[in-house]
Amino acid sequence: MNICITGASKGIGKALSEQLIARGHTVWGVSRSEDILRGMSQTLPATLWRASVVDVLDASAIARWADDVDHTNFQPDCIVLNASVQQNDILDTYDHHAGDENLRVNLGGALACVGAFQPLFHKRGIGRFVAIASTVALRPSMRSASYAASKAGIVMAFRTLRLRYAPEGIRFSLAILGPIATEMWEGKTHWLVPAPKKAATALASFITSGGETLYYPFLSTAMLRCSRRLSDGLFAAISAKILKS
Ligand SMILES: NC(=O)c1ccc[n+]([C@@H]2O[C@H](COP(=O)([O-])OP(=O)(O)OC[C@H]3O[C@@H](n4cnc5c(N)ncnc54)[C@H](OP(=O)(O)O)[C@@H]3O)[C@@H](O)[C@H]2O)c1
Repeated sequence: MNICITGASKGIGKALSEQLIARGHTVWGVSRSEDILRGMSQTLPATLWRASVVDVLDASAIARWADDVDHTNFQPDCIVLNASVQQNDILDTYDHHAGDENLRVNLGGALACVGAFQPLFHKRGIGRFVAIASTVALRPSMRSASYAASKAGIVMAFRTLRLRYAPEGIRFSLAILGPIATEMWEGKTHWLVPAPKKAATALASFITSGGETLYYPFLSTAMLRCSRRLSDGLFAAISAKILKS
């Protein structure tokens, strides 16, 4: 398969790129960090790895990336919308500046990529977008109101797009992740919080097998889904006790 990944320089996106390449797939990864992407190009096989500097806040950079992908005949089977930031916005008062960036990168940036790449999929009559969402789409985050809103937003956007475009062969899949031990995770090390490599293994299988929704890790996401009758306050208190330092 040919797979494009946003936020390929760190954490889950980097581990996922490496896993997919190890399985023989071709990956075109993007992020803002030119030096990290260049470093990855030195270790990953040139036949299976391409990289570009793209800030998903920059619609024209996304459009140029889609053009490059089209003109080099890369023919993507799947676009993974993974790039994300999580700025604390719940300070003494809500920090709109931080919140706005979370929403613009996580929701606006992901949907800008959909808009840029969907015409390529329509030309071939097939294609799949995979958005990396989070369990904070289902339960409030104690750290960032806008991050939770951005993840809830991408879940609802994908459910809507899925309904509209499935008959035309374009699929919109969701990977809903619980805590993973990357730079983004601020809680403590815990057996319920797997390393990004483990998350990447589950994601790589999901991407290549073609399901509609993945919940990972099984245990933390199942516990969260089973807890829906608990109030948000009680749930937040319990999860802080288990996972936060
Ligand atoms: N870690 C968790 O606990 C957890 C839980 C649930 C869901 N998730 C989701 O999993 C995905 C990956 O998260 P992670 O934990 O691997 O985070 P991470 O280690 O912080 O990596 C985030 C990636 O996004 C890229 N990025 C950020 N802003 C960007 C922008 N404006 N344009 C392009 N790329 C940008 C970063 O690259 P540059 O800095 O080089 O641009 C980096 O490669 C995210 O969607 C996150 O919401 C994570």
